[in-house]
Amino acid sequence: RFRGVVALDGPSGTGKSTVARRLAQRLHAQYLDTGAMYRAAAVAVLDAGVDPGDPVAVARQVEASRIEVSTDPRNLHTILDGRNVDRQIRDAATTTAVSPVSAVPAVRERLVAQQRSIISGGPTVAEGRDIGSVVWPHAELKVYLTAREDVRARRRAGELKLADVDQVAASLRRRDQLDSSRAASPLHRPDGAAEVDTSDLSIDEVVELLVGLALRAA
Ligand code: C5P
Repeated sequence: RFRGVVALDGPSGTGKSTVARRLAQRLHAQYLDTGAMYRAAAVAVLDAGVDPGDPVAVARQVEASRIEVSTDPRNLHTILDGRNVDRQIRDAATTTAVSPVSAVPAVRERLVAQQRSIISGGPTVAEGRDIGSVVWPHAELKVYLTAREDVRARRRAGELKLADVDQVAASLRRRDQLDSSRAASPLHRPDGAAEVDTSDLSIDEVVELLVGLALRAA
C-alpha cells in the first residue's frame, strides 16, 4: 500500500490530469489538481472585473477569495466562495487569464500553503507545474511528463472538441512559454524527477508504469 506523495509535473497535453486521477485511484490516495486551484483564482479575478494583468489588484482579489477543491479522484469539484465553478474553470476566458494570474507571487504563496496543508492529510498524487520543485520537493516519487508538441496539440484539441489543431497548438505554445519563463516557480523538470515521454504510450501504459514506480518508492 502506497503511503507517500507522488509529484506529477509537466505542460498540458501530456495526459497529466487523466494519469494523475487514475494513479490516485489505483494507489488509494488523495488527488490534488493544483491547476484547478489556479484556474479558480482566475475565475475570481474575471468575475470581479479585475484586470488579470494588474498584479496588485489580482493579489488583493485572490486573497479575498475562498478556493476549495475536493480530493476524491472519483468526485472532483472546485468551489469558489461556496459556488461550484467546475465548468467555468475550463472555459476559454479562464484559460487565457490563468497564466498571468498564476505568475503573481502572492497568489502562488497563498495557494502553495493551501496545497501543502492538503498534501499533509495523507497519501497524495499531486499534479501541477511546481509540485516536485516547490510545493513538495521531498515527494517519494517525482515524475515529469512530456510529449512532442504535435501530440500535445492533438490531445488538447480532442479534449476541447476543437477541429483547429493549429490554433490549439498556438495557444498551448503561448501558455507553455508564459509558464516556463515567469520569475516565480517557472515550469521545469525538478531535480530527481523521472522524465516520461508519453508521446507513444497509452494512458494505461503510463499509469501502469507509474504504479510500479510509486509502489517501489514508498
Ligand atoms: O494544469 P492546468 O492546465 O489546469 O493549469 C492551468 C494553469 O495554471 C497553467 O497554465 C499554469 O499557468 C498554472 N499552474 C501553475 N502551477 C501549478 C499548476 C498550474 O502555475 N502548480
